[in-house]
Amino acid sequence: AEVHYHDFVVQAKQVQRLCSAHTIVTVNGQFPGPTLVVRDGDSLVIKVVNNAKYNISIHWHGIRQKRNGWADGPAFVTQCPIQPGGTYTYRFTIEGQEGTLWWHAHISWLRATVYGALIILPKQQASYPFPTPNREYPVILGEWWNRNPIDVIRQALITGANPNLSDAFTINGQPGDLYNCSAQETTVYPVAAGETILLRFINAAMNTQLFAAVAGHIMTVVAADASYTKPFPTSVIMLGPGQTTDVLIRTNQPAGRYYIAARAYSNAPPIITFDNTTTTAILEYAGAVKSGQRPKFVALPGYRDRATAAAFSANIRSPAPVKIPEPVDVNLFTTVGLGLLNCPPNRMCGGPNGTRFAASMNNFSFVLPNRLSLLQAAQFNVAGVFTSDFPAAPPIQFDYTGKVRRGLWQPVKATKLFPVKYGSVVQVVLQGTNIFAAEEHPMHIHGYSFYVLATGLGNFDPKKDASKFNLVDPPHRNTIGVPAKGWVVIRFVADNPGVWLVHCHIDTHLNWGLMTALLVENGVGELETTIPPPPDLPRC
Ligand code: C2O
Repeated sequence: AEVHYHDFVVQAKQVQRLCSAHTIVTVNGQFPGPTLVVRDGDSLVIKVVNNAKYNISIHWHGIRQKRNGWADGPAFVTQCPIQPGGTYTYRFTIEGQEGTLWWHAHISWLRATVYGALIILPKQQASYPFPTPNREYPVILGEWWNRNPIDVIRQALITGANPNLSDAFTINGQPGDLYNCSAQETTVYPVAAGETILLRFINAAMNTQLFAAVAGHIMTVVAADASYTKPFPTSVIMLGPGQTTDVLIRTNQPAGRYYIAARAYSNAPPIITFDNTTTTAILEYAGAVKSGQRPKFVALPGYRDRATAAAFSANIRSPAPVKIPEPVDVNLFTTVGLGLLNCPPNRMCGGPNGTRFAASMNNFSFVLPNRLSLLQAAQFNVAGVFTSDFPAAPPIQFDYTGKVRRGLWQPVKATKLFPVKYGSVVQVVLQGTNIFAAEEHPMHIHGYSFYVLATGLGNFDPKKDASKFNLVDPPHRNTIGVPAKGWVVIRFVADNPGVWLVHCHIDTHLNWGLMTALLVENGVGELETTIPPPPDLPRC
């Protein structure tokens, strides 16, 4: 196994997008940031130097970080932010993971421009469980604002305005040729006829689930969230923010230029406006004639095409029967959803009827600490930073997905963690709600991958719905969409001590409080103990 050393210098950089110049925060002046390519078993040592004017922290999305929460990265959860002028070195080892992951800033809205691919190849002597591709490329889907994204979210938090309306989607940082002033810079993927190509799709968009497709080519899905899947063919894929999907294509079409395109999948109610434009890149065969002609177009599903999105997600399975952790020791039932708060006096609030938006889990809208990270507080028993009484069930029961009276469910601000004993089998029912509005929530857990046992519409019914569990070959993921007015059930073994964030990967919802954290207690043996913090861990 190798050790990979990298310097990540966080710095401002001027870029041209959509006909004007913008100063954005980047890593090493690159946007998207550097692609990290490692093998399973390798270690990474990444020295982050903050030369920007904002606090920063970097999260390695999907990396298990076993007993190594200090390298996980979410600001105020596992570390204080790296302040301007500061440095912090993330050290971690890949243990039994292969496929496509990514890294991104985990503070404020900096991940809008601070992100990149993290590719884990099989061990040196090992190979893929599918034909070795002739070429492979990351296809990073992103979301672009002409305004400084930090100002967008700041305004959303102060007024509760809805910031979902971005100015473009992007592929590898470029909007593509359907947008103004963007044709020259459209991302091009060179291929040759008769090849097998591995495309590693990453949804790095801030707030939007995306459909994606390649014109004229059937994709074979082979992995999702760095777990291999039972291969299946599809003409379109759907990824929620945070998710990755690896596909193979055969370049068996006439030598030409073919769009790779992505656009929104949203079942948000009309009150939530969103960007409905299409981003493009170009799959370009060697010898293709470039002059004049547009690349071959691909029609993507309509943005409300839930049937296509659901059918795609349901096809994702583990390649072979897996050993499902049983029996369940800990049952957590938590609502996930939006809510409304009253507008504080003398404020302008952007929600309906002068309210402002909030989001919650089991009615608690999570508030991050600001003088110590949760992990530090847990490790050193510092009182007053959090409480460990996140409820295992909603405080009141009602018809979560029906027509809910607004006054029934007023989110309460709190910093409540859910305590879990080391080694226990945890089953979580994530129940979407329809409190003022239902939307799909891509839920992500740090430090873990989990089996997705079942998903459905309406209110989860433990008696009826247990029969729907896939206990044979469920997918193993780190981010899963909770359907609008529906639920999903996940299961995992709490074998990783530490404080691990559980949150909606729609950044607006995250900032409105749609998160909690697992407090996985240390076991007794040495192996189970979280390592001491590194000496350069930033101070608040
Ligand atoms: Cu991809 Cu908490 O993050």
